[in-house]
Amino acid sequence: MTTTPTRSFTLTEQELALLPDDDDVAFYAEHGWYLSKKLFTDQEVDRLVAASEDYYAGERSRTLPVRPPRLAAWQPSDGPVQRHNDYVHYESDPLAGLLRKPLIGAVAARLAGAAEIRVFQSTLILKPAVSGEPSNIVPWHFDKHYWSTCTSERMLTAFIPFHDCDEEMGTLTVVDGSHLWKETGRDDSMTKHFAERDKADLERVLAENAAYNGTEIRKVPLVIPKGHMSFHHCLTYHGSGPNRSPRPRRAVSFHLQDGGNEYRRFELSDGGVAAYNHDVLVRRLPDGRPDYADPAFCPVLWSADGSADHG
Ligand SMILES: [Fe+2]
Repeated sequence: MTTTPTRSFTLTEQELALLPDDDDVAFYAEHGWYLSKKLFTDQEVDRLVAASEDYYAGERSRTLPVRPPRLAAWQPSDGPVQRHNDYVHYESDPLAGLLRKPLIGAVAARLAGAAEIRVFQSTLILKPAVSGEPSNIVPWHFDKHYWSTCTSERMLTAFIPFHDCDEEMGTLTVVDGSHLWKETGRDDSMTKHFAERDKADLERVLAENAAYNGTEIRKVPLVIPKGHMSFHHCLTYHGSGPNRSPRPRRAVSFHLQDGGNEYRRFELSDGGVAAYNHDVLVRRLPDGRPDYADPAFCPVLWSADGSADHG
C-alpha cells in the first residue's frame, strides 16, 4: 500500500506576502484568471527545467501501474510536435518535489475559497521552437469539459512556465470573464480532449457561446515572468498560439481540485459513462466510486488545518 508521510503546511513571512490579497481574490472571481507574484525562485525554476530534461530522457521514479485509455505520454519517437506528459507529479519525484510547494496550494486555496487543495493532474508541456508546427496551437476549450466526472466547479489550473513567457512563445491566452458564461450547444464531443476535436469547430463554439451571453470575446494573452504563474478557473475558456520564438516553450499545467471534489457518475447521451484517466488508477471509495483523494495520485497540496495525513 502506498502511503505519504504527514506533511506540514506552513508558510514563511515572505511567502505570506506572496498570497493573493482580497482585491486579487475579487479579481479572480470576476475575471476567471489571476497572475501570481513570484512563487518560485529562479533556482527552483532552473531545477524544473533540469528535472523535465531528465524526465524526457526517460528517468522515472516510478511508472503508472496501468496505462489509462487517454494518457498524454510524449516519447522521443513522436518527434518535434507539442509534447504533453500527464502524471509527472506521480512519475517524477524531482518534479513533484518542486511542484508540491505548499505556497502554490495556498494561493489556489485563496482563489478557490477552499480549505484544502489536492493535485488533480500535472501535465508537462513543451512547445518546440517550430513556428509553423500545427500541434503547438491549443484551440479554445475549458478544462471542466474533461472533468465531467468531478462534482466540483471550483477546480482550477496553475500554468507554470519555466522561463519568461509571452505571446511570441505562444503563452496561455484566456477569455476574460468567460467562466461566468452560461453554456449553449454542449454535446458529448465536449468531453473529448481538444487534440481529438476539430479546431474550426472550437472557434465556432466560442463565438456561439459569447453571442448566447450577449458579450464580446476578450482574449488576454498572459505575459508571465519567470517564477510567476497564472491560475485559471475550470470554466474559463483558454487556448494558446504558435511558438514563434527561437526557444522551446516549457511549462507544467498543474490541475488542482478543492478538498470537497469527488467522483460522480456522468452519463453521456449515447448511454455511455464519462471517464477520467484516474478512474482506472486510483483506489476505490467504500461505495465503489474512484477516490479522487487517493494520496498516491491526488496528493494534498495545501490544507488550512496545517497538516494532511491521508492514506
Ligand atoms: Fe486547458
